[in-house]
Amino acid sequence: MKTVSIAIVGLGSIAEYHLRAFRKTEGCRLHAVMSRKRETVERVVKDYDVEQGYVRWEDVLTDADVEAVVLCTPNDTHYAMTVQALNAGKHVLVEKPLAGNVQEAEDLCRLAERCGRRLMVAMTARFTPQYLTAWHCLRSGTIGEPIQFIIRWLEPKTIGINWEKKPVPVDAVTGTVLYHHGSHMLDAALWFAEDEPAEVYAVGTRHQRLMDDVAVIVKTRRGQLITSVHSFNAPAKTHDFVAVGTRGILEINAYERLSLNGEIRIQTTWQQGLEQGVDNQSLEFIQSLQADREPIASGRQVLPSFRVLEQAYALTVRQGAL
Ligand SMILES: NC(=O)c1ccc[n+]([C@@H]2O[C@H](COP(=O)([O-])OP(=O)(O)OC[C@H]3O[C@@H](n4cnc5c(N)ncnc54)[C@H](OP(=O)(O)O)[C@@H]3O)[C@@H](O)[C@H]2O)c1
Repeated sequence: MKTVSIAIVGLGSIAEYHLRAFRKTEGCRLHAVMSRKRETVERVVKDYDVEQGYVRWEDVLTDADVEAVVLCTPNDTHYAMTVQALNAGKHVLVEKPLAGNVQEAEDLCRLAERCGRRLMVAMTARFTPQYLTAWHCLRSGTIGEPIQFIIRWLEPKTIGINWEKKPVPVDAVTGTVLYHHGSHMLDAALWFAEDEPAEVYAVGTRHQRLMDDVAVIVKTRRGQLITSVHSFNAPAKTHDFVAVGTRGILEINAYERLSLNGEIRIQTTWQQGLEQGVDNQSLEFIQSLQADREPIASGRQVLPSFRVLEQAYALTVRQGAL
C-alpha cells in the first residue's frame, strides 16, 4: 500500500491527539504542520519529528508533497479552508463541525466530488471502541431491530472555554450546546439507525450567552425515535447513549463502557476511549485514501445529522430560546 503524506493544520488542543495518532498510523507520513504562531510550530516540528513547519496556510496548499490535510482550526475556518484545500488538490479530514450551515456542508461535499478528493469529518465518537463495537452489534442484529436511541450528554461547561480549560473563539451557532455535543451524538444515532431523519422537534433554553440546554427528538423514515438531551449547566457529567432494540438493549457510558443487556462488554477510561477513537479515525482516513474508497464519516454521511442540527436550531430560534 502506498504511503500517504499529510499536513496537520491548527496546532491547538485536539491537534495533539491527531499528531500522536497519525505519527503511529501505518501507511502515513507526517510531512508538515502549520499554525500561525511560530513558536508552536517549532515545538511541534521538534517533538513529533515533522519534516516541514509552516506559519502560512498558502505554503501548505502549494507544497506538492502534501496529499491530505487534517484541519484542527476553529469552527469558523472549516468551510473556507476546506474549499481551499480541495481546490489545491488535497484530501481533507476536517474537525467537526464540517461547516457553518447545511448549504456550506452540501457545497463541500459537491466540491470534493468535483475535485475527485475525499472529504471526511472527525466524528470521533463513532471511532471510539464503545461506539464502533455498538455499531457492529447493531449491524449483526444482536439487539434485534433498533426502536429508540436515547442520549443524555450533560456536563458543566462555560461557553468559550474548551475541554482543556483554554479560552477558544466561539461562533454564535456552532458554539451552542446543540452543535457542540449534539453534532457527535445525533451523527452517531443516525449512523446507528442507518436511516434518514423524517421529523425533527426541538426545544432549547439559554442560561449563558448562547443556547446551553436543548432537547431534540427525531423520527426517522422507518419510525425509529432519537431523543438527544444536552446541557452545559449540569453540576456533574452524565454521558450515556442507550439503543433499545426489539430483542435487547445496548448502553454506552461516555467513551468508557459498553454494556449489552446489562453485561459489560468494553471498559476503558475516558482518555483511553478518546485516544483509541482518534487512532481508529486516523487509520480509517489513511486506509480510505489508500483504497480510494469513501471513508466512514465522509462529508456525505454526516450531512443528515447536519440537517437535523440546522432544523433544531431554527425551531429553538423561532421559540425565542436564544
Ligand atoms: N472531534 C472531537 O471530538 C473534537 C474535540 C475537541 C475539539 N474539536 C474541534 O477541533 C477544533 C479545534 O478545537 P481546539 O479545542 O483544538 O481549539 P484550539 O485549542 O483553539 O486550537 C485551534 C488552533 O488553531 C490555530 N489556528 C487558528 N486559526 C488558524 C488559521 N487560520 N490557520 C491555522 N491555524 C489556525 C490556533 O493556533 P495559532 O494561533 O498558532 O494559529 C489554535 O491553537 C474545533 O473545530 C473543535 O470543534 C473536535
